[in-house]
Parts: sequence; C-alpha cells; structure tokens
Amino acid sequence: MRCAGMTAVITGGSRGIGYTLANALAAEGARISLIDILDDVTDSAQKIIDTHGVKAAGVVADVTDAAALDSAFMSLATAVGTADILVTSAGITQWGDSIDVTPEEWQRVLDINLNGTFFACQSFGRRLLAEGRPGSAILVSSMSAQIVNVPQFQASYHASKAAVSMLAKSLAVEWATRGIRVNALEPGYTLSAMTRQFMDANPDLRVRWEDMIPARRMGEPEDLVGVVILLASAESAYLTGQSIVVDGGYTAV
Ligand SMILES: NC(=O)c1ccc[n+]([C@@H]2O[C@H](COP(=O)([O-])OP(=O)(O)OC[C@H]3O[C@@H](n4cnc5c(N)ncnc54)[C@H](O)[C@@H]3O)[C@@H](O)[C@H]2O)c1
Repeated sequence: MRCAGMTAVITGGSRGIGYTLANALAAEGARISLIDILDDVTDSAQKIIDTHGVKAAGVVADVTDAAALDSAFMSLATAVGTADILVTSAGITQWGDSIDVTPEEWQRVLDINLNGTFFACQSFGRRLLAEGRPGSAILVSSMSAQIVNVPQFQASYHASKAAVSMLAKSLAVEWATRGIRVNALEPGYTLSAMTRQFMDANPDLRVRWEDMIPARRMGEPEDLVGVVILLASAESAYLTGQSIVVDGGYTAV
C-alpha cells in the first residue's frame, strides 16, 4: 500500500491508460478523483469504489477549459481530498498530411494535449503550494516526444507531446524546492481505447508496428503501472524533471 493516505487526480481517467492507472493507484491505497469529458466518468469512479473499497469520485470537465477544470479540482478536493498525486492522461491524436490539417484541427490537439496538461498542473500545484504540501505530478507524454511515428503522419501530436515532456522539466525545476515533483511518462504503442480503434480500422498496421518494436508486441496499459507507482510514491522522492520511456525498446533502435 505505497499510496495509502494519498489522493490522486487522473485527467482522462474514465477509460484507457488513465483508468488503468487510477485502478493501480487505488490498489495501492490512494483515494481517486477522475476528470473526463465523458459522462461515464462517474460510472468509472463507482467501479473503482466497488473494486478497491477506496473513496473515489468522477467529475465531467473539459481540460481545455481552465476555469471548469479548476472547479472540478475544487469539488473533488471537497468530496475526496486535496490531490497530492496528479496523472494527466487526457489526450487525443489526429492523423493526416500536415499540408491538409486545418487550423482548428491543429489547435484542438495542442489545446487538449498541451494546454489541458498545463491547466491541470496549475490546479494541482495551486492547492499544494498554498498548503505547503508536497506532491507528485506524472504527465502522460509519449515516445512520440522523441521520435517520429510511421507510417501515419501526426505532426500536431509529436509537437504537443514534445512540449508536454519539456513542460514536466520546466515545472519540476520551478517547484523543486517546494516539494512538488514533476515527471513525464512516455509510453510506446499501447493497446487502449484510442489505439484499438486504429487497429480495427487498419489490421495490417498492428503487424507493421509490432515489427518495429524489439519486444514484438504492443504494450498493455498495465505495463505502465510499475513506473507510475514508483513516481507517485515516496520511493522516488529525489526523482524529478525526467522523462521515462516505456516502449518495449522501440526508441532504442
Ligand atoms: N495508447 C497509446 O498507444 C499511447 C501511447 C503514448 C501516449 N499515449 C497517451 O496516453 C494518454 C491516454 O491515451 P489512451 O490511449 O488511454 O486514450 P483514450 O482515448 O483511451 O483515453 C483518453 C481519455 O482522455 C479523455 N479526454 C479526451 N479529451 C478530453 C478533454 N478535452 N477533457 C477531458 N478528458 C478528455 C477521453 O475521454 C478518454 O477518456 C493520452 O495522453 C495519449 O496521448 C497513448
């Protein structure tokens, strides 16, 4: 129970990687606050209560709306507790030739992946700094912060995730003396709701991607759990400002 007595906010926690990480934190004793744009975020929180017996709640909010997001943090702090762990998993991707991407499409990816992550860090840090309490923020970036995925084109995603990893370093330095650690988690190809839709639409793509991964398989959300528990817990008290890649060796070749 390495997170007993702690409270975690997970953005994008209704499904996919965020939901798996929320369950993993709950299994280590953390209270869980979920924020998602999907209405079923409250059902996801209820399932966590039923499975792990911890306090949990879910609130619908769009991470691109800083005021709505801060209100969600406020109501969750009252209902569940002030967060000392943050996992920012809300994110989207968009594929297409860069020359054809509209300003709205480009802006949407940057708004959710980068701006939404920053607003969540602000809401998280604001309360901890005011109370003089320590915390750990884990920003879900991507191996796409470091390499260009192929064969799909996704310039906005690459740019947004590189910015998220740099944001983690920036905030880590800014908040280091005040006890708030900030690290980026950079998953490789991971089977989630997001990627399954691409696999279903392009069955050959999975074969092509797996050929490029030294481990010869896509990751499961559960493959990220060990690193996240380490980053969330006091076991990593001196670990901040880093990007940790979990990709089956993809970026090593
Ligand atoms: N799946 C992968 O292969 C992979 C690899 C590297 C990084 N990632 C990153 O992991 C994170 C989670 O991805 P996933 O694969 O679980 O995808 P997913 O689509 O299954 O989950 C993303 C969640 O974010 C929520 N969300 C989207 N926009 C939102 C908004 N504006 N406000 C609030 N919530 C919003 C969605 O409703 C969803 O619940 C993303 O940041 C993604 O970029 C995924």
